[in-house]
Amino acid sequence: MTAPVIPPAYADIDPLPRLLMGPGPINADPRVLRAMSAQLLGQFDPQFRNYMRETMALYREIFVTQNTWTMCIDGTARAGIEAAMVSLIEPGDRVLVPIFGRFGHLKVEIARRAGAQVHAIEMEWGQVFTPEMIEDALRTFKPKLVALCQGDTSTTMAQPLAEIGALCHRYDALLYVDATASIVGMPLPVDAWHIDVVTCGLQKCLAGPSGIAPITLNARAAEHIKRRRHIEQGLQSADYVAGSGRMIASNYFDLAMVMDYWSEQALNHHTEATTMLYAARECARITLLEGLDAVHARHAAASRAMVAGLQAMGLKLFGDLAHKMPNVTGIWIPQGVNGDRVRARMLNDFNIEIGTSFGPLHGRIWRIGAMGYNARKDTVLITLGALDACLQAEGYAMPRGAGVDAAYATYCLT
Ligand SMILES: Cc1ncc(COP(=O)(O)O)c(C=O)c1O
Repeated sequence: MTAPVIPPAYADIDPLPRLLMGPGPINADPRVLRAMSAQLLGQFDPQFRNYMRETMALYREIFVTQNTWTMCIDGTARAGIEAAMVSLIEPGDRVLVPIFGRFGHLKVEIARRAGAQVHAIEMEWGQVFTPEMIEDALRTFKPKLVALCQGDTSTTMAQPLAEIGALCHRYDALLYVDATASIVGMPLPVDAWHIDVVTCGLQKCLAGPSGIAPITLNARAAEHIKRRRHIEQGLQSADYVAGSGRMIASNYFDLAMVMDYWSEQALNHHTEATTMLYAARECARITLLEGLDAVHARHAAASRAMVAGLQAMGLKLFGDLAHKMPNVTGIWIPQGVNGDRVRARMLNDFNIEIGTSFGPLHGRIWRIGAMGYNARKDTVLITLGALDACLQAEGYAMPRGAGVDAAYATYCLT
């Protein structure tokens, strides 16, 4: 027998050791990668069902909620957004979307695809909404659902949410929050803030890869969805009675079916992405091992250091700093500096990835992240040192080493 010929182009996957300091994804915590190398299990194996139950319990703590329906959608964070929105929205429903960056526009698009009448209110990029602005829109538009981001990585801004849930309920609207970029980087006590549905991903502050979307929904949201519960024909039992509501337009993202699948009844739906479930469980486990408060504090410390370092280099930061996300910082590219060339130097000469930007900010700001496994003193200092060298090489004049010194000082003080 002759050995199969492997063309020389197909070498082992062995990428350069990049340090991912953009707006996410970031380097995964090695413990998460180890958990992902565990052998596969069948989705109805009692061991696996136990991992699913444990994952539900762990994410109740991550979301600081008692919600029974706390589970995961297979797919990237966008899968969670789509599942929440298509399962809540029926054609003709009124949906309010406050937009303060790219991911607000994404919610408008998903709501329109689901047949909603959408009312968008827009904030200049770099700013956030006051509760009064959202209340005005609630009063005049009377939506069934309000959909917004906690942190929008495109602008690096974080929308304060503490009052918004109660406000929505006063106007009889459900509140859905996309916390993909902010979860565990800053507080999000779901029950205390009266948020009906929250989704996220692993690839930012949770220190994992993208590919699974944790979600939590309260009883009020679950009621809406259960009214639309249908079971696939090939799985129906003789005594099955369908919900009275309109069938959810997507099968894969039908939260009623996903809830049946995650319930003790374990009704078949998709084939669980076993490896991603292991990742989700490990991300939550290591976060809670460190402690939510400690994880928030670690992100805040990295943000303080990054801001101090960049400002000491004479760089101007983007947006309203009082509402900056702790895990990502926007920087105006200085006049005369070629932003793409600096990013290329960072990547090619230092193996460090920093972010570009989208839409109206494209080519105007860089976005530097320090989140999840990379929200650390060493990664922040190394990134600032490399940026210093790359900016000097591009002819930008500044005091050498000032950025690293200023950032280091914030760590030495704390
Ligand atoms: C706020 C926000 N929502 C949604 C997404 C989309 O996530 P994914 O690319 O995992 O689908 C991102 C990704 O950066 C994000 O920052």
